[in-house]
Amino acid sequence: MNSIKKKLKSYLRDKNQIVCITCYDASFGKILNDLRIDIVLVGDSLGMVIKGDTTTHNVTIDEMIYHSSCVAKTKQNFIMMADMPINSYEDSDIAYLNSRKLLDNNVDIIKLEYQDKHQSIIKKLVEENIPVCGHIGLLPQIAFEKKDLRIYGREAEERDKLIRQAKDLEGLGVDIVLLECVHSEVTKEITDSINIPVIGIGSGESCNGQVQVLYDILGISNNPPKFSKNYLKDADSVSNAIKNFSNYVKKIKY
Ligand code: KIV
Repeated sequence: MNSIKKKLKSYLRDKNQIVCITCYDASFGKILNDLRIDIVLVGDSLGMVIKGDTTTHNVTIDEMIYHSSCVAKTKQNFIMMADMPINSYEDSDIAYLNSRKLLDNNVDIIKLEYQDKHQSIIKKLVEENIPVCGHIGLLPQIAFEKKDLRIYGREAEERDKLIRQAKDLEGLGVDIVLLECVHSEVTKEITDSINIPVIGIGSGESCNGQVQVLYDILGISNNPPKFSKNYLKDADSVSNAIKNFSNYVKKIKY
């Protein structure tokens, strides 16, 4: 088992909540590194918070590589995860080539927005020993309309599908599951039914860690989601704001 897989398993074993925050550049990367944030995610949310678009739909693999390479310069303590952007995992070979490019830039885990049609792609990445995070629930890359921005899993059929997908991901050999905007009861069911870490954003506290977009917790996003909190409001520095978010996550008992 490689060291990233071992480290991820250790969070579960030690019941140590995982703090995951997005980052796109070296200045913030250094702050997150010095604060010993567990996972730094170079998210395709950069489409909104860096490029000023309203979606992630125009983010390219070259942009992901560029921002990953900036963040990687500061990486000493954290695990670095990066998104596979839209159109970068159309089939197994394309997914493999693009994830290798991210890994060559010091990324440890690649994250992709999972639909059932991606099973063979994940199989290939796992066979090639590429650590993978499967992202389910709200999938911003395929969310085109306002009605897609909602909580997932309220209805039985969707709930069953999410639980089944999380189990499929575990069976396929992914290392971590990320839930976005999943109903808190479904989050709990998923976390209780699989044996790999589950981290969530807007999905309640019944999981193994929390993810947030850095600019949302600093209160500087244009359009922050309802579930995010501005930690800079009550802190005297960016670093202390991030530390307060991290302390909040580490204290969650689950
Ligand atoms: O791109 C991103 O920032 C993400 C988070 C919303 C989880 O995927």
